[in-house]
Amino acid sequence: MSTPCASGPVCLGIETSCDETSVALWAGGRIEAELVHTQIPMHSVFGGVVPELASREHLRLLDPLVESLLAQAGRPGGEGVELVAVTRGPGLLGALLVGIAYAKSFALARGVPVVGVNHLHAHLLACEFTGFIEYPALGLLVSGGHTHIYSMPRPGAFELMGRTLDDAAGEAFDKIAKLLNLPYPGGKYIDELARLGTPVRGLFTRPYLNNDNCDFSFSGLKTAVALHVVQHALPALDYAAFDPVVVEPRVKDLCATVSETVAQTLLEKTRRALGRADGVRTLCLAGGVAANSRLREVFTAFAEANGLKFLAPAQKYCGDNAAMIAYAGVQLARAGLASALDFEAIPRGRAVPDDYIVNPLFKE
Ligand code: KG4
Ligand code: ZN
Repeated sequence: MSTPCASGPVCLGIETSCDETSVALWAGGRIEAELVHTQIPMHSVFGGVVPELASREHLRLLDPLVESLLAQAGRPGGEGVELVAVTRGPGLLGALLVGIAYAKSFALARGVPVVGVNHLHAHLLACEFTGFIEYPALGLLVSGGHTHIYSMPRPGAFELMGRTLDDAAGEAFDKIAKLLNLPYPGGKYIDELARLGTPVRGLFTRPYLNNDNCDFSFSGLKTAVALHVVQHALPALDYAAFDPVVVEPRVKDLCATVSETVAQTLLEKTRRALGRADGVRTLCLAGGVAANSRLREVFTAFAEANGLKFLAPAQKYCGDNAAMIAYAGVQLARAGLASALDFEAIPRGRAVPDDYIVNPLFKE
């Protein structure tokens, strides 16, 4: 995978904000090596991420992963690494602290700058793994923790136009999947079943559209599905032996309806945001839920009909990964920015500050 941009510094990227421990090396204008260790099998036993276990796993895995990555890239000991980029937040505090402490130590020991990256911005910038963002752009970030619409008037500027007031889109998918006893995290299983079913028109109202804003609210959809499951006595699936072939057609139709409702709701607010942003040329769709097949279809068609360039990362770069962190760090470095060594981790719910320091080292 490479992007058409100037190469920038050799950068070690580190991502530990949630349940993936991931490291990547950017060199020569491309991701030279990357490793992702997912903790999903461990957390799925509990039906959700257990923050303390996540931190401990990051602590156990991060150093060996960096060592393997550097060995793979032919840079044992970090030879030639010029920058360290690490997820600063938002995320699980303990999990973030593991990556940040490691990144700061690595940078300090080698005398190179470190940059703390906004995880949400990095998700959107991962769209550049498939093509250049032509600015001004509009970005929809849909993940397990966030549903944000940004106006992106120029590189490095992210202006929040709308956000979820309760559940994020991915959280809604996961909670609905739990109601059906699908494996965790359930978004991709709903997607898989949805492709085998047909949406039922009018079954669920597209939530929170009867207003004038670009915000979202998905908690009502979850309640509507919960009521539907009880009223129609839908069978609980066997999550330990998930097999789409034996799932009843009405469950597949329910999943198709949920996917369609979420996709159309996201589209409607994106359409609204587009009307309020100036001269948008590119529509970006990113985050774990951007892997959803119906959402990608709906957004592709919308962009085409509106003469917009549409960018979404390949499936493997929709979820959390360090390649996007390295790439975002390189863009900050190219703009002459880095972080002071005492920067803090930012937990979920707090905005990540733009308190970069000047680092003229790689400015273009
Ligand atoms: O971005 P991400 O990996 O982690 C966060 O930063 O939250 O997103 C994870 C979310 C989960 O809620 C997961 O169920 C959802 O992305 N997801 C999907 C699909 N693949 C992952 N949701 C719907 N359809 C999918 N195909
Ligand atoms: Zn994420």
